[in-house]
Amino acid sequence: MENLPQKSNSFVLFGASGDLSFRKLMPAWFYLERSGKLDDSLKILGVARQDITTEQFQEKVIDALNLYVSSEYFDDEVCNKLIKRIDYCCCDLQNPDDYQKINSSLSGWSKPIAYYLAIPPNLFETVCDGLNSIQILTNESRIVVEKPIGYNLDSSREINDKLSKYFSESQIYRIDHYLGKETVQNLITLRFANSLFSSQWNSKSIEYIEITAAESVGIEGRWGYFDGVGQMRDMVQSHILQLLCLIAMEPPSRLNDEGIRSEKVKVLQALRPITDDDIADSFIKAQYADGQILDNKKPGYLNEEGANSESTTETFVCIKAQIENWRWSGVPFYVRTGKRMASKTTQIVVHFKSDGHYIFDRNHEDLEGNTLIISLHPIEGISLKVYTKPHGVDQHMSIRSDPMSLDFIKTQQLLNIPSGYQSLLMDILIADQSLFLCKEEVELSWEWCDNAFERWQKSSQVLYSYPVGSNGPLESELFIKKNGHKWHE
Ligand code: BG6
Repeated sequence: MENLPQKSNSFVLFGASGDLSFRKLMPAWFYLERSGKLDDSLKILGVARQDITTEQFQEKVIDALNLYVSSEYFDDEVCNKLIKRIDYCCCDLQNPDDYQKINSSLSGWSKPIAYYLAIPPNLFETVCDGLNSIQILTNESRIVVEKPIGYNLDSSREINDKLSKYFSESQIYRIDHYLGKETVQNLITLRFANSLFSSQWNSKSIEYIEITAAESVGIEGRWGYFDGVGQMRDMVQSHILQLLCLIAMEPPSRLNDEGIRSEKVKVLQALRPITDDDIADSFIKAQYADGQILDNKKPGYLNEEGANSESTTETFVCIKAQIENWRWSGVPFYVRTGKRMASKTTQIVVHFKSDGHYIFDRNHEDLEGNTLIISLHPIEGISLKVYTKPHGVDQHMSIRSDPMSLDFIKTQQLLNIPSGYQSLLMDILIADQSLFLCKEEVELSWEWCDNAFERWQKSSQVLYSYPVGSNGPLESELFIKKNGHKWHE
């Protein structure tokens, strides 16, 4: 019988006083504590450069929990229980001698230990070398890294190579927090547990699919970072391509890491590279200009604090992707994502084909097929647009459309949907890699994005502009219209 991996109850967080730690990870630990899911023996060691005591660090965590845990969930008793698990170690990651301090802090802690690198990728190797130098790594240790893994294919390979010096693939957890979102995981259930959808999920029944990830936030004080990245690398390379994989993949033979990841890899392999001939119809980039969201004036990207007014980094992209395989041949997957748009909306819209022969009221002859909306934000749920006859004696051959809707919060009587990080943290502890990216997925995604960038660079495509608070540039409407399709608003 296969040996099950050992559960980890020791968690080390590098970059413990950073934004990710306070805004996402600590609140996620809080929610897990609140749900009683954590073993009594679980311990968390925060590692950061700041020269503060454990008590001072714990105070900072309490402040962060007060800020980022919703008030209806906050509970002093839960907070105290979590705080007791947390230790702190001040460490200059570049100083090899400082790793002894980590060693002392971890003395007596149970193995295997999970190491979460919430730090810039240029420090990954240094930290791995440091951990190796104190001889703390075992075959069961886990190393956790966040997307984006690198800046392009070459740099992602470099990072993967560095990690593989000390860790095998089964020990590396590459996080894309979208995979931790319940509604994203629900794509698998929706598709493969409902014969109504599984039987129609192909090019015979589906006309086109949209993925929209519109954000109303801007660069939020991280202009320098974002300008070197752009929306394609920030949102498409991992989050959106992962959504696309889950929408398009074949049913995995098993619902485990190997089964799911190998089907996602096949989708990425079948993703048609954008060519010089179709760049204009497949990829547009834009930048936000001065405008307003709900009466609040906001500066354009080039007028943000710390901006370089010459920057050509995109804050919006719109893509037509195609998957060349039996299931999806001829079905366009339209993607649009941008910062500082009218509102935060994350949704997948599946447009089914309409019936070939039409027998109803001539006024509705151009009736579109049914539409399935899978919404991640602002609500988490699904909605299917169906046609019915309006009631009334004078309405006998007319048609109306209404949504059949499921709001997961209401139907499952949840107070709020857990953040993606909770399930990911639990999975790290129990060594389940199903919701983490394998090396091949990361590299294939970069390969596809690098190629799109290269084609765009070589073409005479212009960087379009859109006002803050809009739905993106006008060109993104024309882009989809050219194919006789339209965005679902
Ligand atoms: C992050 C990006 O990975 O995802 C951010 O770096 C983006 O720029 C965020 O805002 C979006 O995540 P969510 O969960 O709010 O849709």
